[in-house]
Amino acid sequence: MSRHFIHIQDLGAEGAAKMLARAREMKERSYRADLLEGKNIVLIFEKPSTRTRLSFEVAVRELGGQTIFMTPAESQLGRAEPLRDTARVISRYCDGMVVRTFGEAKLAELIRHSGVPVINALTDEGHPCQVMGDLLTIYERTPDFSRLRVAWIGDCNNMAWSWMEAAAVFPFELSMAFPPGYVPAGNKVSAYLRSGAKISITGDPRQAARGAHYINTDVWASMGQEDERAAREKAFKGFCVDAGMMSLAAPEAKFMHCLPAHRGEEVTEEVMEGAQSIIFDQAENRLHIQKAILEWAFSGGK
Ligand code: CP
Ligand code: NVA
Repeated sequence: MSRHFIHIQDLGAEGAAKMLARAREMKERSYRADLLEGKNIVLIFEKPSTRTRLSFEVAVRELGGQTIFMTPAESQLGRAEPLRDTARVISRYCDGMVVRTFGEAKLAELIRHSGVPVINALTDEGHPCQVMGDLLTIYERTPDFSRLRVAWIGDCNNMAWSWMEAAAVFPFELSMAFPPGYVPAGNKVSAYLRSGAKISITGDPRQAARGAHYINTDVWASMGQEDERAAREKAFKGFCVDAGMMSLAAPEAKFMHCLPAHRGEEVTEEVMEGAQSIIFDQAENRLHIQKAILEWAFSGGK
């Protein structure tokens, strides 16, 4: 059985919990396998990447497969060949796709026309592989999520949406703070708030940080929003995670960031490099969770 991974909800609550345990086991065993032997996985990246690309390239190899990396600049994607044609061509050569793009609708179009598993490597609306890796990083330290409080401070971007997806699947509390004009709205957020997920939203970052066990932030201008950077810097004043904000969190609280970070904007150098920061454990865990995601997508999971 093969399947697509577009949202954390695709895993289901039980599947998502199993995936964290499986990734942890894979990490402990420096897992290698032949699951993807003879398989070619294409990585289609319409935005830059260091961690996601490298962790998938290494994970596919360590599971016995091969990768092909493709960008619009070097393919007909950049010359407006319809996605449905590209999808049909790819599925004649390749066994799966890992895709980083802009609108999530493109993933649905690829799924409709390809017939091979598609994995979401970041869109404007989500970054589920990253948040599953971040949950693995939390799980290693705090396996019981039922008394866990995670804070999100900053933009309502792809990472924030995937944290909401995660809160709809796992039993932790998610306290989120966004500045005016950047607060999530619409049906998607109302559905999360109605679903019983323990999500709270405030305009006060200090309130969100208070008592949190893990404090998360991300850049104020995501890839594709570079022109908005100056306006966003103004709007997000007061949302920088600094030592004062960390001091409001629970004792032993940890700082998290998916990277890349802009030091001096969303987080201070002191917090990034301080004892509470677990940012490179997060980056490492991308590799281990990618293996578990690939196993789930290509073999129905374990
Ligand atoms: N965190 C993350 O996805 O990083 P990259 O953009 O380097 O892949
Ligand atoms: N929100 C960031 C995440 C990068 C991994 C962006 O989309 O640029």
